[in-house]
Amino acid sequence: MAIRIIGTGSSLPRQVMTNDDLAEVVDTSDEWISSRTGIKERHLAKEETTATMSAEAARKALMDARIGAEEVDLLIAATITGDYITPSTACEVQALLGAGKAVAFDINAACSGFMFALHTAYAYLQTGIYKTALIVGAETLSKIMDWTDRSTCVLFGDGAGAAVVRACEEGEGSGLLAFEQGSDGSRGKVLACEGRQNGNPLAGRPFVPSYVHMDGQEVYKFAVTTVPASIRRVLEEAGMTEADIKYFVLHQANIRIIQSVAKRLKAEEEKFPVSLDHCGNVSAASVPILLDEMNRKGLLEKGDKIVMSGFGGGLTWASAVVEW
Ligand code: COA
Repeated sequence: MAIRIIGTGSSLPRQVMTNDDLAEVVDTSDEWISSRTGIKERHLAKEETTATMSAEAARKALMDARIGAEEVDLLIAATITGDYITPSTACEVQALLGAGKAVAFDINAACSGFMFALHTAYAYLQTGIYKTALIVGAETLSKIMDWTDRSTCVLFGDGAGAAVVRACEEGEGSGLLAFEQGSDGSRGKVLACEGRQNGNPLAGRPFVPSYVHMDGQEVYKFAVTTVPASIRRVLEEAGMTEADIKYFVLHQANIRIIQSVAKRLKAEEEKFPVSLDHCGNVSAASVPILLDEMNRKGLLEKGDKIVMSGFGGGLTWASAVVEW
């Protein structure tokens, strides 16, 4: 059985914040941000929420796949910035779409979240438990940023991306060809955001909001070593080399990470499309937003082989080889 991506969609908040706008908020400059990261601007949520952006991206993906919400069996949302602790973002999206038949739950794997959701959907579909999955990667990272910390707040943005994944009959294309994922909790604190503190009468700690903090250089080293190794492993599993791949659709954290991965793989940089210039790092949403932009530009043709790869908080990483 072939497990194929049959539709994509995305949604970005209406408001844009440029690097020059940010320079009025913290002590930074367009020159510093552009040269160190490749980011020029990012969309930040004002009225939008993680669930509303997810639902808009999901509706577009369903339209692209030409199926109705009632056909979705499985709805997985990857996010670390849901609107509620419970209900999950996936359950909120289910209600907004009217996808009454779907079983819905969230996955927390930070910037690898969409890839973890894709692999989870693959496992359900491959075993025949479900036929049609809707997976969403969505974040409102601006609500967990310290807007006085220039070393983090300039890097991230808000948005959502979605894909419809379906178990197809033989002869309808190959779909997902190889997959691998991994986690290293022992290094988790290099990119972290604490949850709520325990305010029970015994613990008695006051509520202190917590924000994303990061050892940027450790995260950088993790990304440029783990990602090429992970991509090489999935290529080997698929019996392919870099030369067989039309595009490498990487998590959009930093242009220097992408350039370094391209160099280490000895692959042309032109094969690495970019959305971080206008989106920033949107964590779980970045891979599906980029995939949707490529799909809508007509860059993906049936039979093309692409690699998708996510990496980030946890630490976590995941890569896949996909035939479009
Ligand atoms: N504007 C201006 N200066 C800034 C700044 C900003 N937004 N942020 C940090 N600086 C300053 C620092 O204060 C420091 O100044 P100092 O030398 O006077 O102390 C200087 O710039 C260098 O800081 P440093 O943190 O060493 O920069 P860097 O070269 O490591 O670049 C990152 C920082 C974050 C761009 C880089 O480490 C990186 O890309 N890491 C990966 C992060 C990532 O992608 N995380 C998400 C993964 S999912």
